[in-house]
Amino acid sequence: MQAIQLRQPGGLDKLDVVTLDAPGEPGPGEIKVRLHANSLNFHDYAVVAGMIPTGDGRIPMSDGAGVVEAVGEGVDEFVVGDAVVSTFFPGWLEGPARVGDFTTTPGDGVDGYAREQVIRPTNWFTHQPKGYSHAEAATLTTAGLTAWRALVVDGGLKAGDTVLVLGTGGVSIFALQFARMMGARVIATSSSNEKLARLRELGAEHTINYKETPDWGKAVKALTNGAGVDHVVEVGGPGTLPQSIEAVKIAGHISLIGVLTGSEGDIPTAKLMAKQARLQGLIVGSRRHQLEMVRAIEASGMRPVIDREFALTEIGDAFRHQEAGKHFGKICLTF
Ligand SMILES: NC(=O)c1ccc[n+]([C@@H]2O[C@H](COP(=O)([O-])OP(=O)(O)OC[C@H]3O[C@@H](n4cnc5c(N)ncnc54)[C@H](OP(=O)(O)O)[C@@H]3O)[C@@H](O)[C@H]2O)c1
Repeated sequence: MQAIQLRQPGGLDKLDVVTLDAPGEPGPGEIKVRLHANSLNFHDYAVVAGMIPTGDGRIPMSDGAGVVEAVGEGVDEFVVGDAVVSTFFPGWLEGPARVGDFTTTPGDGVDGYAREQVIRPTNWFTHQPKGYSHAEAATLTTAGLTAWRALVVDGGLKAGDTVLVLGTGGVSIFALQFARMMGARVIATSSSNEKLARLRELGAEHTINYKETPDWGKAVKALTNGAGVDHVVEVGGPGTLPQSIEAVKIAGHISLIGVLTGSEGDIPTAKLMAKQARLQGLIVGSRRHQLEMVRAIEASGMRPVIDREFALTEIGDAFRHQEAGKHFGKICLTF
């Protein structure tokens, strides 16, 4: 079977297309999956670009979608032919968060899904939403579930709430779509006026160019009659958090998700305290969260926004496309 392996110390020119032995047959409690798609995340980019050291020869990509080819003894959740999608934390099935690192995450601490076949315990996958393509399903593992957990699970999003999303990457577009699906209003930012127009087509009520309006926190407040937003999906980190604190409502909720502007910096803690806002760090979600998200997607008919699809062997070009920051929504590999 064809697969991709990453040579250390990493780099987009260190991704090798290799032929590996096909896996045998699944053991008790396992399924064999013929994978057909991955989606790219900033985290996968950090791994392949060498920003996060990993094992030499690691198979990258945390998001994998495909079809069950064989089931082992005792498997009753899946049958041959089922369309499935991988989970980000194979060992976190439900309940409160219990994993604080990426040692068990496919494509980082363990081999991922840039390969044609894999045998894994059933818990490593869930069903895909009915009617989804494999590429669409592969967008859910990381970006989809992060946005879902931020707003619905941890944020307790209600119809009529106002949500602020930053930029037009995978997580932010999903957050916009889930917010609209749940009957919330959306304010969205981007560095590109063309992308702002597309955000409005997707249902953003107001848009702000964060390059042209560096004080966008105040602009968000003005758009909400001085009140601020109920939820911020914070993908920027230290460079954007001060503005997000400005933009959030008193007693609002900020999901601290991303590191696009770095991993540490000065934060106006007194303002956060005065806002009495809830600032919560989070990493993706549990298998239970994924099952609930899939159920909600099936009920609503929501479809992910895919910017572009590449072949598995074009993985380097796909990451270069992501690196250029021209994308809107998700980039996928299909094979
Ligand atoms: N904690 C978690 O569970 C979790 C899960 C997934 C992702 N993340 C993190 O969330 C972040 C986004 O991930 P992703 O996969 O969605 O990335 P992505 O698809 O690569 O998104 C990148 C986009 O972010 C926007 N952006 C860049 N700098 C920005 C800034 N200063 N202010 C506002 N927007 C900015 C840009 O949008 P425009 O071109 O429109 O300006 C850019 O296109 C990353 O830091 C990633 O590590 C965390």
